[in-house]
This record gives sequence, C-alpha cells and structure tokens, in this order.
Amino acid sequence: MSQDSPFTPALFTARLAPSGRQADAWADQPLLHSLEQGGVDWPSSCRNGTCRACLGQLLAGSVRYEIEWPGVTREERAEGCVLPCIAYPESDVVLQDPAT
Ligand code: FES
Repeated sequence: MSQDSPFTPALFTARLAPSGRQADAWADQPLLHSLEQGGVDWPSSCRNGTCRACLGQLLAGSVRYEIEWPGVTREERAEGCVLPCIAYPESDVVLQDPAT
C-alpha cells in the first residue's frame, strides 16, 4: 500500500501529561477510540458529544469536530476544552490526564 494513498488516514500521537501514557491517534477516528485502542483509560458515557463525561483539557495540538455544535462552548474550546468522543486529531496532541 502506498503511503501517498488518499485513503490512508494520517496517524498522529495522543499523549497524556503528566503521566506520559500515549496512543496512536488516527485522523479519521475520534480521540476516545484511539485512546481506548491504545489501552489508555478515559472517562466516557454517551460517546456522542452531549453528556460531557469525557471532557478533557487539550494542552497541545489541535482537533476538529464533525458536528456543528459539540457540547463545549466557544469559550471552553478557546480554553482548550475538548470532547474526545467526537474530537478528531489534526496533529499530535497532548491531553491532561483525566481526573481520577
Ligand atoms: S462521552 Fe459524552 S460527551 Fe463524550
């Protein structure tokens, strides 16, 4: 398979800080899926962007949403709040470890 294939999604890294846990983060799937596939526990419930159980803090990198009104306000997004269940990585990302 060619790396130039338009059907090969970009692969980034999702890292948690300060723990340093990390997972492969594919551009075509929500961060929550990538974290779980990588064996990283992350809180979740609805998995569709409404309950905010998965709310996290993006420390570095960028994400995009495919739904027009994800359950975070414009102000929260500006402060780095993300909903990993519906957030797709656009770069390597660093997320603050979720509260336990
Ligand atoms: S799991 Fe409900 S908003 Fe992410």
